[in-house]
Amino acid sequence: MLAVEGVHKPVLRAEVLALAAVRPGERWVDCTLGFGGHTSALLDAGAHVTGLDQDPAALAAATRRLEAAGDRFTAVRANFRDLVRVVEGPVDGVLADIGVSSWQLDQAERGFAFSARGPVDMRMDPDGAVTALSLLQTLAEAELAHVLADFGEEPFAGRIARALKTWALGEGPHDTTRMAQVVAEAIPRKVAATLHHHPATRTFQALRIAVNDELGALDTLLEAAPTLLAPGGRFLVISFHSLEDRRVKQTFATLSGRKRLQAPRRGLPPPPAPEPDFELLTPRAVQAGAPEVADNPRARSAKLRALRRLSNATAATTPAPRIPA
Ligand SMILES: C[S@@+](CC[C@H](N)C(=O)[O-])C[C@H]1O[C@@H](n2cnc3c(N)ncnc32)[C@H](O)[C@@H]1O
Repeated sequence: MLAVEGVHKPVLRAEVLALAAVRPGERWVDCTLGFGGHTSALLDAGAHVTGLDQDPAALAAATRRLEAAGDRFTAVRANFRDLVRVVEGPVDGVLADIGVSSWQLDQAERGFAFSARGPVDMRMDPDGAVTALSLLQTLAEAELAHVLADFGEEPFAGRIARALKTWALGEGPHDTTRMAQVVAEAIPRKVAATLHHHPATRTFQALRIAVNDELGALDTLLEAAPTLLAPGGRFLVISFHSLEDRRVKQTFATLSGRKRLQAPRRGLPPPPAPEPDFELLTPRAVQAGAPEVADNPRARSAKLRALRRLSNATAATTPAPRIPA
């Protein structure tokens, strides 16, 4: 077994495998290789996997760990927004486990975490043009407040934006620990005392999403991946917050014909829906059970959704995968 031990536990591994229903020899793309946990599981099931990651450090580590797979595994440094440019279809499956890995979060020098002192960076791709600090320095205060409200659902976005602008344009020190303090001090003390999370959690999430244009990349992926699928091909997405999951849910509902078409004019019935090309494999998002959450707290917010391209031939011969109870 090509197990990747310790460093990164792939979330919902059993559920991914059940929905992926890999047959030996199938071609899969893992859009978020990370430490190769899910890829390792797909390889064990007999797939050939192309693994994409925009972080060269993750790519190098996964490549070393998956060496035993030989030519069944190919690593490509790319943003998954470029999927159709770097992968030639058709493929039997596409998997995306989006966001940052726990390994990236733990590397203080990447600047993702408020719990460790590091540069105010947050780039998944270290060659990316924008760091969290440059974003804080260049965005207007009102734009920054929008970022914090939209991507972090931060109720004190205005106050935090004002404090962060002053700090980012000042003398510093400009590190993650100081930034977390600045955010905490901008939130009314009474409110901060009642929070179940660190007061800077939402701000860090929002800035990370903005720095890496995570929602833009996801939108492009959701449009592109279904076009690459062979008949019977599966598309699985794991997301970690509602902004992402909402997009996945709506796209999958539309593609599988679950979303009613809009009426052309008020009072008129909606047009008859065309036969969908896709089947929804997860009427509800699949979530981790209590044992997995106890073992890996990050799994608590993971939501897995899956879609399959229909074809008369394959739809008739491929049994629907079953999720383990
Ligand atoms: C949650 S981790 C994936 C972990 C992986 N499934 C495993 O089992 O080890 C997400 C990974 O995807 C990468 N990533 C996130 N967004 C990306 C994007 N738009 N394009 C390419 N890679 C991306 C990150 O650099 C990170 O290594």
